Amino acid sequence: MNKLFLTFSVVGFSVFLFNPSYGGAGVIVMGPTPFGATADGTAVEVYTLRNSKGMIAKVMTLGATLTELHVPDRVGITADVVLGFDNVADYQSDKNQYFGCTTGRVANRIARGKFKLDGREYTLALNNGPNHLHGGVKRSLDKVVWKAQPVANGVRFTYTSPDGEEGYPGNLNLAVTYTLNENNELRIDYEATTDKPTPVNLTNHSYFNLAGAGAATVLDHILELAADEYTPADETLIPTGKIESVKGTPLDFTRPTRVGERIEQLLETQFNGYDHNFVLRKRGRTPTFAARLKDPKSGRVLTVLTTQPGIQLYTGNFLKGQTGKGGRVYAQRSALCLETQHFPDSVNHPHFPPVILRPGQTYRHTTIFAFSAE
Ligand code: GLA
Repeated sequence: MNKLFLTFSVVGFSVFLFNPSYGGAGVIVMGPTPFGATADGTAVEVYTLRNSKGMIAKVMTLGATLTELHVPDRVGITADVVLGFDNVADYQSDKNQYFGCTTGRVANRIARGKFKLDGREYTLALNNGPNHLHGGVKRSLDKVVWKAQPVANGVRFTYTSPDGEEGYPGNLNLAVTYTLNENNELRIDYEATTDKPTPVNLTNHSYFNLAGAGAATVLDHILELAADEYTPADETLIPTGKIESVKGTPLDFTRPTRVGERIEQLLETQFNGYDHNFVLRKRGRTPTFAARLKDPKSGRVLTVLTTQPGIQLYTGNFLKGQTGKGGRVYAQRSALCLETQHFPDSVNHPHFPPVILRPGQTYRHTTIFAFSAE
């Protein structure tokens, strides 16, 4: 048993002793555990989900964020495979590039921060060059403190985003539920209702490195995507509206391929690596296969299943060597995101799957991060 693991077990055990725990056979939910406070003094709490197979997930109320995800490798040694920080101040600083958070109200970009809905034009904050990104500046979903309620095998976070927050119409009631099971699957269920028509596109923005957060690079990870097509984008990463085949391009991950295999072909482009939305093949009401990522050295495998129509592959091109959990450094391309989502700028592309939620409807999506080792 290595020292880190021992320390973790001791910490884990005391958390177990001094916190209420919930859950049935196998999965235990512990918390709330204090994690500090935001700059304006709001308390932030963490919950720990643990199964009997060695997997541990930690989620916090700030941004309904996944802060830790400990996963066993082929010989049973666990590593925390997501980027994050040890304290709230770092999560609220410019070191945080949406690490592990719930992203919205509309994840990804809206061109020029403008959209029309039922004849009215809405204007949103511009926080990514000329465009709106990931729900805005101050009160996007990653930056607010959610309420938490332990449920069987997990935690349900809720937040009501008031009418007009970050420029979006309607009081939006949101629920994001993380659950863990004995098959090493972390499941995220999203729900939303509104009292005015409004766009909604929710995702989780975890950065994965299956060798452990802080390992040098993900370029040797092997990736497969269930996508034959993608949405080409302009120099500001806004889709042109076309849907094109990945065939013959560096975006062809229809067969398992090393992430770094063809990335240099993208370095001279506006993307500076992978930062593309892929059109997922088969969609339905139950989560289906979207992506498979493997670290050949540790043998850890992440399989992503989702109900969403798209997935953004982002290879951490803008990571800047910030210091994260345990003093580890997060270098450029040392982690990648698989953001299951509706297509970017869907509000301005009527032929993309629609993102408008209307009163009386319930937005529902599910994404599963399933882990194994081989
Ligand atoms: C998304 C975007 C990227 C980048 C990251 C956050 O994945 O597509 O361009 O903005 O979020 O840094």
